[in-house]
Amino acid sequence: MWGYDGRFPAPTSTHLHGGVTPPGSDGYPTDIVVPKGWRQPSGHSGHGGAPMPADVWQVSDLTKEYDYPMDQQAATLWYHDHRMDFSAPQVWRGLAGFFLVRDDEEERLPLSAGERDLPLMICDRAFDEDGSFRYPSLDPSLKGEPGVEDAYMDGVMGDVTLVNGAPWPELEVDAVRYRFRILNASNARRYRLAREPGGPLTQIGSDAGLLARPVELDAVTLAPAERAEVVVDFSRSKPGTEVLLVNTLADGRMRDVIRFRVARRARDESRIPSRLVDVEQLGRARVAAVRTFDFRLTRSGGSHAWTVNGHRFSVDRDLAAPRLGTVERWRFTSDFHHPVHLHLAHFQVEARDGRAPEAHERGWKDTVDVRPYETVDVLARSHGYRGRYMVHCHNLEHEDMAMMANFRVV
Ligand code: C2O
Ligand code: CU
Repeated sequence: MWGYDGRFPAPTSTHLHGGVTPPGSDGYPTDIVVPKGWRQPSGHSGHGGAPMPADVWQVSDLTKEYDYPMDQQAATLWYHDHRMDFSAPQVWRGLAGFFLVRDDEEERLPLSAGERDLPLMICDRAFDEDGSFRYPSLDPSLKGEPGVEDAYMDGVMGDVTLVNGAPWPELEVDAVRYRFRILNASNARRYRLAREPGGPLTQIGSDAGLLARPVELDAVTLAPAERAEVVVDFSRSKPGTEVLLVNTLADGRMRDVIRFRVARRARDESRIPSRLVDVEQLGRARVAAVRTFDFRLTRSGGSHAWTVNGHRFSVDRDLAAPRLGTVERWRFTSDFHHPVHLHLAHFQVEARDGRAPEAHERGWKDTVDVRPYETVDVLARSHGYRGRYMVHCHNLEHEDMAMMANFRVV
């Protein structure tokens, strides 16, 4: 049961990102829970869009019961607000959290556990002098007109890095291996995370589950909403030294993410096995259909909008109708950085610009970093439930500006 404690002033919709969830509990943008006294839900399908008709809203007063059957493998999921037109400012204000799924297959692995298995939610935010969140909403009350000032069309970035809510934190660690479940919870910022001084990061998991085998990397790139599970081995660092995790895509203060202080030597019974879990290769499955989704800024007359296949979001347009249980090849093309996310359907990257993906992208995913003018092919399995789901850009400002579409599992 999710409800109001009386403080958050606006409607919410809660989406379990990466969850295999029935449609009525999936956090559809117009399926909202409203605070006391709320009248007249507004909805404009983003920047300058036409108001949405009243009958598209499904309104629950104060509380709504969400059904999460959790018939899925161990993975680092998260949940966040998905309210129509207002997800970006509401996630910015903190409506997001981790949701860790465990299973026996994972628990049998000799990976770091307990206090050495740590989720790290990384995001950038900005603050006013009084410590409140600063966000360029047209209407900061979150009650009236949605959207941000035109200068923020590409997405809103902050000038403070938070890890689990704390600005540029320090963590004391033992000189052993740690498993970090890293989430990029930023609205629009991408990260390329590396150790300083240099050293390997061993990726063992991606968005929707563990990889088949560990992959050793110099850096881990995460677009908004992507997750990477990474083992960091501090055993070669002398007690008393520091290891920084930095974002090599940023400069100055925003380059720093988190500082680890290696405190002492300690026993470490963990290992990184050379085989982690069985990952079914969708490349061997029959492809039931091929579809293309083009993410781009569409200009018409004097105005512009973030669109999918030329359309801004509309509740009653479905762009695809995959059959339950089938695998389809979905091709994403774009004009800009767009992290593309599918609800319900987990997928595997098949190709980037026609080339096979790197090893760390061969596991199960729910969000893929589509880079400017790139073509990304994924094999997606529509599993679990029939009904209406979404494919959308997870740059939250683009999402609020209607860069979303429905697909319907039939
Ligand atoms: Cu993480 Cu539709 O969202
Ligand atoms: Cu986008």
